Amino acid sequence: MGDLLFEDAETARSYQDYRPNYSGLGIEKEVLSFMGQAYEQPGNVDTIALDIGCGTGQLTRALAPLFKKMIGIDRSKSQIDVAKGVTKEKNIEYLVNVAEDLSFLQDNSIDLISTAAAVHYFEPEPFLAEVDRVLKPGGCFLVLLFAVKGIFLTSATNNDDINNKCEDIMEDIRKTTYSVFKKGSNKVISSGSYSLPDYPDRHHFQLTSKRRYDHLDEFVGFLKSLGTLKLYNEQHPEEGDQIERIKKRLRLAVATSSSTQEISPVVLNCMFNCYMYRK
Ligand SMILES: C[S@@+](CC[C@H](N)C(=O)[O-])C[C@H]1O[C@@H](n2cnc3c(N)ncnc32)[C@H](O)[C@@H]1O
Repeated sequence: MGDLLFEDAETARSYQDYRPNYSGLGIEKEVLSFMGQAYEQPGNVDTIALDIGCGTGQLTRALAPLFKKMIGIDRSKSQIDVAKGVTKEKNIEYLVNVAEDLSFLQDNSIDLISTAAAVHYFEPEPFLAEVDRVLKPGGCFLVLLFAVKGIFLTSATNNDDINNKCEDIMEDIRKTTYSVFKKGSNKVISSGSYSLPDYPDRHHFQLTSKRRYDHLDEFVGFLKSLGTLKLYNEQHPEEGDQIERIKKRLRLAVATSSSTQEISPVVLNCMFNCYMYRK
Protein backbone atom coordinates (compact mmCIF):
# COMPACT_ATOMS: atom_id res chain seq x y z
CA MET A 1 0.00 0.00 0.00
CA GLY A 2 2.89 2.38 0.77
CA ASP A 3 3.82 2.14 -2.89
CA LEU A 4 0.30 3.01 -4.07
CA LEU A 5 -0.38 6.04 -1.94
CA PHE A 6 2.68 8.19 -2.46
CA GLU A 7 3.80 7.57 -6.02
CA ASP A 8 2.18 10.34 -7.99
CA ALA A 9 3.83 13.72 -8.37
CA GLU A 10 0.80 15.83 -7.34
CA THR A 11 0.45 13.97 -4.03
CA ALA A 12 4.17 14.45 -3.35
CA ARG A 13 4.01 18.18 -4.13
CA SER A 14 0.88 18.68 -1.99
CA TYR A 15 2.55 16.71 0.79
CA GLN A 16 5.44 19.12 0.84
CA ASP A 17 3.33 22.28 0.52
CA TYR A 18 0.29 21.63 2.69
CA ARG A 19 1.09 19.12 5.45
CA PRO A 20 2.28 20.24 8.87
CA ASN A 21 6.01 19.70 9.38
CA TYR A 22 8.36 19.08 12.30
CA SER A 23 10.46 22.21 12.48
CA GLY A 24 10.32 24.35 15.61
CA LEU A 25 8.77 21.59 17.72
CA GLY A 26 11.86 20.84 19.80
CA ILE A 27 12.40 17.36 18.40
CA GLU A 28 16.15 18.03 18.01
CA LYS A 29 16.45 18.74 21.74
CA GLU A 30 14.68 15.49 22.65
CA VAL A 31 16.94 13.52 20.30
CA LEU A 32 20.07 15.19 21.63
CA SER A 33 19.17 14.67 25.25
CA PHE A 34 18.63 10.94 24.64
CA MET A 35 21.65 10.46 22.39
CA GLY A 36 24.05 12.35 24.62
CA GLN A 37 26.59 15.13 24.45
CA ALA A 38 28.77 13.51 21.81
CA TYR A 39 26.21 14.66 19.25
CA GLU A 40 26.14 18.30 20.23
CA GLN A 41 29.05 19.19 17.92
CA PRO A 42 28.06 17.42 14.72
CA GLY A 43 30.82 19.01 12.65
CA ASN A 44 33.54 17.51 14.85
CA VAL A 45 32.55 13.87 14.78
CA ASP A 46 31.89 11.49 11.98
CA THR A 47 28.18 10.91 12.60
CA ILE A 48 25.62 9.65 10.16
CA ALA A 49 21.83 9.37 10.36
CA LEU A 50 19.24 7.71 8.18
CA ASP A 51 15.60 8.82 7.81
CA ILE A 52 13.45 6.02 6.38
CA GLY A 53 10.20 6.70 4.51
CA CYS A 54 11.41 10.29 4.46
CA GLY A 55 8.72 11.53 2.05
CA THR A 56 9.71 15.01 0.96
CA GLY A 57 12.26 15.26 3.77
CA GLN A 58 10.30 16.95 6.57
CA LEU A 59 12.00 15.10 9.42
CA THR A 60 15.24 14.62 7.44
CA ARG A 61 15.79 18.39 7.34
CA ALA A 62 14.74 18.90 10.97
CA LEU A 63 17.38 16.41 12.19
CA ALA A 64 20.17 17.10 9.67
CA PRO A 65 21.86 19.83 11.78
CA LEU A 66 22.67 17.21 14.43
CA PHE A 67 24.80 15.01 12.18
CA LYS A 68 27.72 15.24 9.83
CA LYS A 69 25.75 13.38 7.21
CA MET A 70 22.06 12.61 6.84
CA ILE A 71 20.53 10.19 4.34
CA GLY A 72 16.81 10.21 3.49
CA ILE A 73 15.34 7.19 1.75
CA ASP A 74 11.86 6.54 0.39
CA ARG A 75 10.41 3.99 -1.98
CA SER A 76 8.57 6.73 -3.92
CA LYS A 77 10.63 8.46 -6.60
CA SER A 78 8.11 11.34 -6.71
CA GLN A 79 8.62 12.05 -3.01
CA ILE A 80 12.40 11.88 -3.37
CA ASP A 81 12.31 14.20 -6.40
CA VAL A 82 10.38 16.83 -4.42
CA ALA A 83 12.69 16.35 -1.41
CA LYS A 84 15.75 17.02 -3.56
CA GLY A 85 14.11 20.11 -5.03
CA VAL A 86 13.33 21.75 -1.69
CA THR A 87 16.43 20.78 0.31
CA LYS A 88 19.28 23.29 0.66
CA GLU A 89 21.30 21.52 3.36
CA LYS A 90 24.57 20.26 1.92
CA ASN A 91 24.89 17.32 4.34
CA ILE A 92 21.69 15.61 3.14
CA GLU A 93 21.60 12.92 0.48
CA TYR A 94 18.38 11.30 -0.80
CA LEU A 95 17.93 7.85 -2.32
CA VAL A 96 15.03 5.87 -3.69
CA ASN A 97 15.23 2.75 -1.52
CA VAL A 98 12.87 0.53 0.45
CA ALA A 99 12.94 0.23 4.24
CA GLU A 100 13.26 -3.53 4.23
CA ASP A 101 16.56 -3.75 2.34
CA LEU A 102 19.35 -1.45 3.52
CA SER A 103 22.10 -3.41 1.80
CA PHE A 104 23.70 -0.18 0.59
CA LEU A 105 24.79 0.33 4.24
CA GLN A 106 27.40 -1.58 6.24
CA ASP A 107 26.77 -3.32 9.55
CA ASN A 108 27.10 -1.08 12.65
CA SER A 109 27.47 2.09 10.58
CA ILE A 110 24.58 4.42 11.55
CA ASP A 111 24.22 6.64 14.63
CA LEU A 112 20.49 7.37 14.34
CA ILE A 113 17.71 5.81 12.31
CA SER A 114 14.48 7.82 12.23
CA THR A 115 11.12 7.21 10.65
CA ALA A 116 8.07 9.49 10.81
CA ALA A 117 4.47 8.61 9.96
CA ALA A 118 5.71 5.72 7.85
CA VAL A 119 6.62 2.65 9.92
CA HIS A 120 3.12 1.16 9.52
CA TYR A 121 3.82 0.70 5.82
CA PHE A 122 6.98 -1.36 6.31
CA GLU A 123 7.15 -5.13 6.65
CA PRO A 124 8.09 -5.40 10.35
CA GLU A 125 10.43 -8.39 10.31
CA PRO A 126 12.89 -7.50 7.53
CA PHE A 127 12.72 -3.82 8.46
CA LEU A 128 13.63 -4.34 12.13
CA ALA A 129 16.33 -6.84 11.22
CA GLU A 130 17.92 -4.21 8.97
CA VAL A 131 17.60 -1.52 11.66
CA ASP A 132 19.41 -3.79 14.10
CA ARG A 133 22.11 -4.67 11.57
CA VAL A 134 23.04 -1.15 10.47
CA LEU A 135 22.78 0.71 13.82
CA LYS A 136 26.08 1.20 15.62
CA PRO A 137 26.21 -0.32 19.12
CA GLY A 138 24.77 2.49 21.25
CA GLY A 139 23.10 3.96 18.16
CA CYS A 140 19.48 5.12 18.41
CA PHE A 141 16.20 4.45 16.66
CA LEU A 142 13.48 7.15 16.61
CA VAL A 143 9.91 6.36 15.56
CA LEU A 144 7.16 8.96 15.16
CA LEU A 145 3.66 7.48 15.06
CA PHE A 146 0.40 9.36 14.61
CA ALA A 147 -1.43 9.25 17.94
CA VAL A 148 -4.76 7.39 17.77
CA LYS A 149 -7.40 9.98 16.80
CA GLY A 150 -4.54 12.45 16.97
CA ILE A 151 -5.37 14.48 13.87
CA PHE A 152 -7.93 17.20 14.32
CA LEU A 153 -9.06 20.42 12.74
CA THR A 154 -9.92 23.49 14.81
CA SER A 155 -10.94 27.10 14.32
CA ALA A 156 -7.91 29.43 14.44
CA THR A 157 -10.19 32.01 16.07
CA ASN A 158 -11.57 29.65 18.72
CA ASN A 159 -15.08 29.79 17.29
CA ASP A 160 -17.08 27.00 18.96
CA ASP A 161 -19.53 26.60 16.12
CA ILE A 162 -16.68 26.23 13.60
CA ASN A 163 -14.86 23.84 15.93
CA ASN A 164 -17.91 21.54 15.99
CA LYS A 165 -18.29 21.64 12.23
CA CYS A 166 -14.57 21.02 11.73
CA GLU A 167 -14.73 17.99 13.99
CA ASP A 168 -17.59 16.57 11.85
CA ILE A 169 -15.56 17.20 8.70
CA MET A 170 -12.48 15.55 10.17
CA GLU A 171 -14.54 12.54 11.20
CA ASP A 172 -15.82 12.37 7.61
CA ILE A 173 -12.22 12.45 6.29
CA ARG A 174 -11.14 9.80 8.82
CA LYS A 175 -13.98 7.45 7.86
CA THR A 176 -13.39 7.87 4.14
CA THR A 177 -9.62 7.46 4.27
CA TYR A 178 -9.61 4.72 6.91
CA SER A 179 -11.83 2.43 4.84
CA VAL A 180 -9.13 2.45 2.12
CA PHE A 181 -6.23 2.37 4.54
CA LYS A 182 -7.51 -0.59 6.52
CA LYS A 183 -7.92 -2.73 3.42
CA GLY A 184 -4.38 -2.25 2.18
CA SER A 185 -2.02 -1.45 5.03
CA ASN A 186 -0.21 -4.20 6.90
CA LYS A 187 -1.25 -5.68 10.25
CA VAL A 188 0.31 -2.86 12.22
CA ILE A 189 -2.60 -0.45 12.01
CA SER A 190 -5.35 -2.99 12.39
CA SER A 191 -3.75 -4.50 15.48
CA GLY A 192 -3.06 -1.02 16.84
CA SER A 193 0.50 -1.83 17.79
CA TYR A 194 3.90 -2.29 16.25
CA SER A 195 6.44 -4.63 17.75
CA LEU A 196 9.28 -2.17 18.01
CA PRO A 197 12.79 -3.36 18.89
CA ASP A 198 13.47 -5.02 22.13
CA TYR A 199 16.09 -2.50 23.26
CA PRO A 200 15.63 -1.83 27.00
CA ASP A 201 16.95 1.76 27.02
CA ARG A 202 14.06 3.86 25.72
CA HIS A 203 12.39 7.25 25.91
CA HIS A 204 8.88 8.41 25.00
CA PHE A 205 7.73 11.94 24.22
CA GLN A 206 4.85 13.57 22.37
CA LEU A 207 4.65 16.48 20.00
CA THR A 208 1.96 18.26 18.04
CA SER A 209 2.64 19.63 14.63
CA LYS A 210 0.29 22.37 13.41
CA ARG A 211 -0.55 23.90 10.05
CA ARG A 212 -2.86 26.90 9.53
CA TYR A 213 -4.97 27.28 6.37
CA ASP A 214 -6.23 30.76 5.47
CA HIS A 215 -7.66 29.91 2.06
CA LEU A 216 -9.89 27.13 0.87
CA ASP A 217 -7.40 26.02 -1.80
CA GLU A 218 -4.70 25.51 0.82
CA PHE A 219 -6.93 23.07 2.64
CA VAL A 220 -7.73 21.41 -0.69
CA GLY A 221 -3.94 21.03 -1.07
CA PHE A 222 -3.90 19.12 2.20
CA LEU A 223 -6.77 16.91 0.95
CA LYS A 224 -4.78 16.21 -2.22
CA SER A 225 -1.83 15.07 -0.11
CA LEU A 226 -4.02 12.27 1.25
CA GLY A 227 -3.26 9.40 -1.13
CA THR A 228 -6.08 7.47 0.55
CA LEU A 229 -8.68 10.00 -0.70
CA LYS A 230 -7.37 9.63 -4.25
CA LEU A 231 -7.49 5.87 -3.94
CA TYR A 232 -11.06 6.08 -2.59
CA ASN A 233 -12.00 8.10 -5.68
CA GLU A 234 -10.52 5.42 -7.91
CA GLN A 235 -12.23 2.59 -6.06
CA HIS A 236 -15.64 4.30 -5.79
CA PRO A 237 -16.09 6.44 -8.93
CA GLU A 238 -19.88 6.19 -8.56
CA GLU A 239 -19.69 8.25 -5.33
CA GLY A 240 -18.15 11.28 -7.05
CA ASP A 241 -14.99 13.20 -6.20
CA GLN A 242 -14.42 13.05 -2.42
CA ILE A 243 -12.01 15.99 -2.46
CA GLU A 244 -14.70 18.21 -4.05
CA ARG A 245 -17.31 16.90 -1.64
CA ILE A 246 -15.21 17.65 1.46
CA LYS A 247 -14.16 21.01 0.02
CA LYS A 248 -17.85 21.98 -0.29
CA ARG A 249 -18.50 20.92 3.30
CA LEU A 250 -15.63 23.05 4.53
CA ARG A 251 -16.73 26.02 2.44
CA LEU A 252 -20.21 25.82 3.98
CA ALA A 253 -18.69 25.62 7.46
CA VAL A 254 -16.10 28.39 7.29
CA ALA A 255 -16.63 30.62 4.22
CA THR A 256 -16.64 34.32 4.99
CA SER A 257 -17.94 35.28 1.56
CA SER A 258 -19.72 33.31 -1.15
CA SER A 259 -17.59 34.52 -4.04
CA THR A 260 -14.03 34.17 -2.77
CA GLN A 261 -11.58 31.68 -1.30
CA GLU A 262 -11.68 33.57 1.98
CA ILE A 263 -12.41 31.39 4.97
CA SER A 264 -12.31 31.80 8.67
CA PRO A 265 -8.85 30.25 9.25
CA VAL A 266 -8.56 26.70 10.46
CA VAL A 267 -5.66 24.78 12.02
CA LEU A 268 -4.77 21.16 11.44
CA ASN A 269 -3.22 19.57 14.53
CA CYS A 270 -1.26 16.30 14.21
CA MET A 271 -0.26 14.65 17.46
CA PHE A 272 2.64 12.21 17.41
CA ASN A 273 3.86 9.63 19.87
CA CYS A 274 7.64 9.53 19.58
CA TYR A 275 9.64 6.56 20.76
CA MET A 276 13.42 6.40 21.07
CA TYR A 277 15.46 3.23 21.57
CA ARG A 278 19.17 2.66 22.12
CA LYS A 279 20.81 -0.43 20.63
C1 LIG B 1 2.91 9.38 5.35
S1 LIG B 1 4.43 9.48 4.44
C2 LIG B 1 5.52 10.17 5.65
C3 LIG B 1 6.59 11.04 5.04
C4 LIG B 1 7.48 11.81 6.03
N1 LIG B 1 8.30 10.91 6.81
C5 LIG B 1 6.66 12.67 6.96
O1 LIG B 1 6.71 12.47 8.17
O2 LIG B 1 5.99 13.59 6.49
C6 LIG B 1 4.95 7.80 4.34
C7 LIG B 1 6.14 7.60 3.41
O3 LIG B 1 6.60 6.26 3.53
C8 LIG B 1 7.03 5.83 2.23
N2 LIG B 1 7.04 4.35 2.23
C9 LIG B 1 6.00 3.51 2.29
N3 LIG B 1 6.41 2.24 2.29
C10 LIG B 1 7.78 2.27 2.21
C11 LIG B 1 8.80 1.27 2.21
N4 LIG B 1 8.50 -0.02 2.28
N5 LIG B 1 10.08 1.67 2.13
C12 LIG B 1 10.40 3.00 2.09
N6 LIG B 1 9.48 3.99 2.09
C13 LIG B 1 8.18 3.63 2.16
C14 LIG B 1 5.99 6.43 1.30
O4 LIG B 1 6.44 6.48 -0.04
C15 LIG B 1 5.79 7.80 1.93
O5 LIG B 1 6.62 8.78 1.39
